[in-house]
Amino acid sequence: MPAVRDYPFQWFWDSCFHAIVWSRFDPERAADELRGLLAAQDEDGLLPHVVFWKDDLVSRLRWHHLESRTDGRLPFHRTPHTTAQMQPPVIAQAVERVVHAGAGDAFLTESLPALERYYRYLAALRDPDGDALVSVVSQFESGLDFSPAYDGSVGARTVHPLELFLRTRLPQLRNKLANYDLETIFRRFRHHQEDVLVNAVYGQGLRALARLAERAGREATARWAARTADEVTAALLERSWDERLRLFVNLAGPDERRARVKTVHGLMPLILPDLPPEIAATLAGHLDDPRTFGAPYPVPSVALDEPTFIPDHRVRGFRFIWRGPLSMNTNWFLVHGLRGHGFDGLAERIAERSRAIVERGGFNEFYDPLSGRPVGARVFGWATLVVDM
Ligand code: GLC
Repeated sequence: MPAVRDYPFQWFWDSCFHAIVWSRFDPERAADELRGLLAAQDEDGLLPHVVFWKDDLVSRLRWHHLESRTDGRLPFHRTPHTTAQMQPPVIAQAVERVVHAGAGDAFLTESLPALERYYRYLAALRDPDGDALVSVVSQFESGLDFSPAYDGSVGARTVHPLELFLRTRLPQLRNKLANYDLETIFRRFRHHQEDVLVNAVYGQGLRALARLAERAGREATARWAARTADEVTAALLERSWDERLRLFVNLAGPDERRARVKTVHGLMPLILPDLPPEIAATLAGHLDDPRTFGAPYPVPSVALDEPTFIPDHRVRGFRFIWRGPLSMNTNWFLVHGLRGHGFDGLAERIAERSRAIVERGGFNEFYDPLSGRPVGARVFGWATLVVDM
């Protein structure tokens, strides 16, 4: 679980990060973490964003009933006991790390079929317009729940807590009423987005899948995954690069409106090895710029000069996450991405600042990018990624 009190179940991308960190200490423990996710795979290939271990009435009513399919009998009854949502698809990266750390070919053989089904599900069912970019049907699928990158999509014009709460939950209510049928959601609604972070992680995941399939002698899968990864990078460059902001932006709805908000999403294609060097340099430039992403404690989830930036994500006393504070998972991605493109000095600066705030404030969900102070849930799993920077 990401945090005992605040997140008492198994969240998809948290578990992938936990496995990556565990792989440094105990590869079998890491493999088990991932087995817990693979065991919850849906018939269509989806690996759900939350696996609930407890199914008593209190957890049913309190947790994520809006994000789950019902079995048609009771509105709050879920079958199986998971949400029907995705999260950024970082599992091939995690499996690759765990295989290399010592779980080896036995774990590869065991997990590859489920992994392939999952990435094929994304390519087939999450890309209704066939442009190679996958769509999330709710901002809570993007991993960056309340990011202002989604404000335009859901029609949130103010940062009043009630408005933010209702506007962000309404699309989930619609999804729930469609019982999370993707075909219906894409046809009827406009709140879906091609999210840059999700697609960068997807592209990186496809490359990991290609290497794993190659190692397992599955040539056709390896070729498919590598070709699809090429298409993802090409599509991001062609459709979601914004010359005005000099950042990548999310594409909203069926007509792909640009969500022109400077958020950490825009930097994430740095994790793609085939990003052209001049684009990588432009993104690295933002990370060096004290007006935008070069905060005293980098990397803020929203650029410092965005009107929606809030350093401790408190909106009139209420907590709306991903509206400013930094998180160790996005730092981890960016540190490795920067190194991959040769920006070692900048990567080391971000890693060093990350270590400093963890040493000072402990493993936390978020940190204030201006003061480095911890915010959000305490004793938080993926903050341990700091040991892997
Ligand atoms: C929040 C985050 C999400 C994370 C979950 C559990 O919902 O936005 O990314 O997976 O908490 O830590």
